[in-house]
Amino acid sequence: MLSLPPLGSIILPLALVLRPALSDYTNANTSALHDNSQNCSCYVLNSGEDSSTPEYFSFYRFWDFRTLANGPREYITAPPLVNDTQDAGEEDVWDAHVLNSDAWNVDWSIQNWSKKATEEFPTRMVNSPANIYIQQNDDDSDPFTYLTLRTSRLEDFQSAGEIENLQKNLMHVSMRMKARVVGAKGAVAGFFTFFDDTNESDIEILTDDDTDVIRYTNQPAVDDDGNEIAEASQAPDKLPAWDEWQEHRIDWFKKNSYWYINDKQVAANTYSVPREPSGLIINMWSDGGEWSGNMSVGDSAEFQIQWIELVFNTSGPVEGPDNGYNKRSVDLLEKREEKGCEVVCKVDGTKEKGSPEVVGMASGMSVSWGLFVVVGIVSMLLGI
Ligand SMILES: *[C@@H]1O[C@H](CO)[C@@H](O)[C@H](O)[C@H]1NC(C)=O
Ligand SMILES: *[C@@H]1O[C@H](CO)[C@@H](O)[C@H](O)[C@H]1NC(C)=O
Ligand SMILES: *[C@@H]1O[C@H](CO)[C@@H](O)[C@H](O)[C@H]1NC(C)=O
Ligand SMILES: *[C@@H]1O[C@H](CO)[C@@H](O)[C@H](O)[C@H]1NC(C)=O
Ligand SMILES: *[C@@H]1O[C@H](CO)[C@@H](O)[C@H](O)[C@H]1NC(C)=O
Ligand SMILES: *[C@@H]1O[C@H](CO)[C@@H](O)[C@H](O)[C@H]1NC(C)=O
Ligand SMILES: *[C@@H]1O[C@H](CO)[C@@H](O)[C@H](O)[C@H]1NC(C)=O
Repeated sequence: MLSLPPLGSIILPLALVLRPALSDYTNANTSALHDNSQNCSCYVLNSGEDSSTPEYFSFYRFWDFRTLANGPREYITAPPLVNDTQDAGEEDVWDAHVLNSDAWNVDWSIQNWSKKATEEFPTRMVNSPANIYIQQNDDDSDPFTYLTLRTSRLEDFQSAGEIENLQKNLMHVSMRMKARVVGAKGAVAGFFTFFDDTNESDIEILTDDDTDVIRYTNQPAVDDDGNEIAEASQAPDKLPAWDEWQEHRIDWFKKNSYWYINDKQVAANTYSVPREPSGLIINMWSDGGEWSGNMSVGDSAEFQIQWIELVFNTSGPVEGPDNGYNKRSVDLLEKREEKGCEVVCKVDGTKEKGSPEVVGMASGMSVSWGLFVVVGIVSMLLGI
């Protein structure tokens, strides 16, 4: 029962570039840690083998770490490595004015868990907040900043870094980051959805690999007997080098996973596509196992991220389940409640990364998603 209203009444091309209001933080520009899309009520993008069929999502977030400095050379010096005595994960985070600000804490949690050495994973691993910090490009003519997660090898343990997004009920997502990985061999940079070990979709950059190889996996990648499951993981080569800035992307749909680098699809899988509501985890680690390899004592490696973009649906309300501890305040989430699909915005091919643009909208009508899938297509066909 899709009926299309007269075009003139529903499609209003708008070139909207919304900037968030500047916040109260004086030392750092944490306003950039918020999304730029208050006016959009749903988001459209193309994906997969049949990328002519648009996919629609209810929510959008963009965390921009590029504009955190007020000028050049503010974050040029990397903080000292964690030392031998700091093996409890109790260290403070660096750059707390950003990484312990309200703007950060509303969406991210810095991890401090650890795991013991085992026969299979012979290096004890300790996540420390001191491995998460802001760094800056050292070219004064382009002094952008970025988030860094570092891992380093001590005599007795591997110090690692991990952050988790607090949106734990992602149910299908297109998640992207602009990132690079630099440093010593024996580390893994992970960007993945996570519910449990059998509902997990990964991008993993192994510093033991050639710089044109990336691992794209749906877990589980090993069976109960510890044997590798061939179809779980793909490792294409001849990719743009991961030690330079590239845009990485996972699209998680109901039945398909797609992986992209710089807008080009490079892997696809239908094996073990996650089915449970999931979170987003980003980490930099090693444990001496087969997958990560060993890092040499004294060495370190860094996972550096300019921005993170999420286009997603949720399972249940966006503020999370009201079970006493998982519910997030809608006030903190600003105007993030679901608004239907009245103002359709595109997220790719926009003038500015992170600023979705309106491609079609309804004026004064209450409409269903189904209708707006049609409107969206019409709008796109019209090239607006
Ligand atoms: C702060 O970030 C916003 C949003 O990214 C940007 O428009 C603005 O220019 C930044 N301000 C400074 C001083 O860098
Ligand atoms: C976009 O949002 C702003 C602030 O909420 C509002 O003033 C403006 O009218 C909106 N624009 C459109 C086209 O809805
Ligand atoms: C996201 O949710 C909307 C509204 O329920 C639905 O129409 C759309 O197909 C969903 N998108 C994906 C990719 O699952
Ligand atoms: C490790 O760093 C902490 C904090 O800076 C310091 O107190 C401690 O003395 C250091 N330990 C060693 C062995 O350098
Ligand atoms: C880890 O962080 C939590 C929450 O901030 C804190 O309560 C706990 O004491 C920390 N654990 C360690 C080992 O530092
Ligand atoms: C996801 O988790 C559910 C419940 O634990 C499990 O039954 C299922 O096998 C897992 N993996 C996938 C791909 O559904
Ligand atoms: C890492 O080093 C440990 C200790 O020397 C060794 O047992 C383990 O096999 C090494 N792991 C790899 C993947 O080479």
